[in-house]
Amino acid sequence: MRGRVAVVGSYNLGITYRVSRLPVWGETLAGQSARFDHGGKGSNQAVASARFGAPTSFVGCVGQDPAGHSARALLADEGVDIGSLETLEGYATGVGSIFVDAAGENAIVIDLGANAQLTPQALASRRQTPWRTADVVLAQLEVPWDTIKLAFRESEGLAILNPAPAHHGLATVDFRGVDLLTPNATEARLLTGMDADAAVSDRDLLHRLLERTRVPRIVLTLGSAGSLVWDGEQAWRVPALPVQAVDTTGAGDVFNGVLAAALAQGTPLLSAVRAASAAASLSVGIEGVIPAIPPADLVHRRALEIKPEPTSLD
Ligand code: RIB
Repeated sequence: MRGRVAVVGSYNLGITYRVSRLPVWGETLAGQSARFDHGGKGSNQAVASARFGAPTSFVGCVGQDPAGHSARALLADEGVDIGSLETLEGYATGVGSIFVDAAGENAIVIDLGANAQLTPQALASRRQTPWRTADVVLAQLEVPWDTIKLAFRESEGLAILNPAPAHHGLATVDFRGVDLLTPNATEARLLTGMDADAAVSDRDLLHRLLERTRVPRIVLTLGSAGSLVWDGEQAWRVPALPVQAVDTTGAGDVFNGVLAAALAQGTPLLSAVRAASAAASLSVGIEGVIPAIPPADLVHRRALEIKPEPTSLD
């Protein structure tokens, strides 16, 4: 079938707290609310891709526990193929604890749990191998990097790496085999050997990313400022939609899932980024990740409001 996406990635049970601030060491802080929900960058991206209309497979690992069963149910309900999602005895499903403040910004702590068991050996032993035949393979960094490299090597499709969550070790990683890289500004700094909060312009950041990674196409996401895109020949600014942020958790996942789906459907890069930007913008106006992923028809309509502008990197 044309337009297939394979997401190689994580599922995490999400525990989200609304807080006025983060606790300090030694403090117990009363939050304003708490809820359990679905999370994990891979699973979030797979659902966003499927809702945008791409036949999507999820390649991952969950534990044999209630969260693992609930992950399978979510993905199956969303029409995501889970033939390559393994349930592992003796491992717990990954967990993400998410703290969201009044401005909708978040801080997250994760425990990888079963996600760390998606090793190259585990990938090689899968009976169903959707990453080999998909038009787009999309991965993030909550599963082992060697596994992602293997999936990209074995794939005939476009290899998209969303380098999240990033860490300083990425500054020396070899990104050969990646066709499209989609960092946010913090991840881009870490990838290029800078501190996470170093003062640098977004143009300079894109320039450094191109030199350092040699990845041919890059989408640098900039939150409410949209994104800065290198399409292989030219840089473009692609705005976001103006929205009142309620919860920014997973906005990057919505962006990447829709981007992958649109590219798999044969949409040119800039138009795919417009759709991704519209979807991510709409998602931050609604609480949670999965409930906030907008339907495809709304994304198509609102993407028409986004006008990319060519820009220079000099
Ligand atoms: O990008 C948001 C996601 O990151 C959350 O769902 C959390 O589980 C972490 O994986």
